[in-house]
Amino acid sequence: MPDLKDHNIIITGAGRGIGAAIARGLAQDGARITVADLSGETAEATAAAIRDAGGQAIAVKVDVTDRAQVRAMIAASVAAHGPLASIFNNAGIVQVKPFLTITEDDWRVMHDVNGLGVLIAMQEVIETFQKQGKGGSIINTASIGGKLGTEPLAHYCASKFGVVALTQAAARTFGRDGIRVNAICPGNVATDMWKKIDEGFRETGLTSRENEAFEKFASTAALGRPSYAEDLVGISRFLASSDSGFVTGQSIVVDGGTIFS
Ligand SMILES: NC(=O)c1ccc[n+]([C@@H]2O[C@H](COP(=O)([O-])OP(=O)(O)OC[C@H]3O[C@@H](n4cnc5c(N)ncnc54)[C@H](O)[C@@H]3O)[C@@H](O)[C@H]2O)c1
Repeated sequence: MPDLKDHNIIITGAGRGIGAAIARGLAQDGARITVADLSGETAEATAAAIRDAGGQAIAVKVDVTDRAQVRAMIAASVAAHGPLASIFNNAGIVQVKPFLTITEDDWRVMHDVNGLGVLIAMQEVIETFQKQGKGGSIINTASIGGKLGTEPLAHYCASKFGVVALTQAAARTFGRDGIRVNAICPGNVATDMWKKIDEGFRETGLTSRENEAFEKFASTAALGRPSYAEDLVGISRFLASSDSGFVTGQSIVVDGGTIFS
């Protein structure tokens, strides 16, 4: 079992879904969690559930596209839990839009949250790690959409290819500071985000029944079952801990064998 006891770990987008599952899982390992989310309410709910279960967690409301708020998030985390050990840049959005209908605004909003939001947090955390002088681990949530462009999610996929690129570039640049940078690429995970994707498929006439798109994608996984947020906890534990001490620049697919990359 990787030793994450008292590690200070920030997880963005942890009010619900994949981020919340990672927060709960790493809190069980003894990590001190900062649950950060655009929704202060859901962030507080995740943090309170962790504390009720005997873990350590604070909640921070943050918009990851706002540098001042990201700085305040890091400061709050360090003030409450000591030097930062890891961050999961997990906050993200999705939009289902057929390729020819994606507008400039759609593109900008998507890249603002999924691209710029990750870049800002990486920059701020790397500077924090450099000041602390002990390295650290950055884990970005990309997607299998960051390895394979699919319709009708082209601008979402483009933003996740960007996350993979940021991961590789930062890993090369800051490795000698002891900073490791990796990404997780989930498949089709049963969260609120997928409910939105499923709805989008119906709205665009690609499917006609609720959950049809999710079931269709889930059925292509070699392991033959849908993915749940908890499926991302093991890889998160590994990438945050010293067990992955010689792993950097990787974007690891955790999708039950949906794509092979
Ligand atoms: N669900 C999937 O199938 C799937 C697959 C591959 C990758 N992912 C990625 O995993 C991550 C988490 O996805 P999820 O399924 O848990 O989604 P979700 O929609 O259930 O949760 C995303 C969380 O991010 C928060 N968020 C959104 N914009 C934010 C902002 N500007 N600042 C701070 N927080 C913000 C939301 O409030 C929400 O709590 C995302 O980056 C997503 O792209 C999801």
